[in-house]
Amino acid sequence: MNREKFFPILIAVAVAVVVLPVFADARAGDGESMGLRTVMKRLGQDMQAVTGAISREDWAMVEELAPGIARHAEPPMAEKVRILRWLGVDAGTFREFDAQVERAADGMAGAAARGDGPQVIHAFAEVQQACLGCHQQYRKPFAKHFYGRR
Ligand code: HEC
Repeated sequence: MNREKFFPILIAVAVAVVVLPVFADARAGDGESMGLRTVMKRLGQDMQAVTGAISREDWAMVEELAPGIARHAEPPMAEKVRILRWLGVDAGTFREFDAQVERAADGMAGAAARGDGPQVIHAFAEVQQACLGCHQQYRKPFAKHFYGRR
């Protein structure tokens, strides 16, 4: 193969191997949202619905909503792998916040089943603490890493 033919091929290969994956990775967060955001939006809606149910003292509704908060949907497996790789040694702390959400939401369901309003509100505050704890520690770095500076 002569040089005139070889170099364009070499450059095409270099673009394919080196440059395109960089754009692909940037795009992954740039146009689209992460699956986690969809999960979070739903969590936010469910927590709002619980607030409404507490105001109405509708404990049956709180009991119905709580398991969906405790065992909420998860992002697709490939995204979970990306998130865990990004978290590295922090994965345990991140998951512990999620485990706190689960325990507190289960406690809220139990209190609702007993019709114990004050305990429902206490457990609700514990759920919120866990949401806030994770957000304060990870939301900004998460956005920076997966969506870039915006
Ligand atoms: C283990 C960590 C963690 C826990 C626990 C957690 N979140 Fe989040 N949350 C995140 C991260 C990270 C983001 C940013 C996601 C993004 O920008 O794509 C986020 C974003 C959000 C958003 C904004 C979504 C949007 O439209 O941009 C809402 C609402 C939300 N969370 C609600 C909740 C609620 C309610 C709880 C508790 C029941 C909760 N989260 C618990 C990590 C967590």
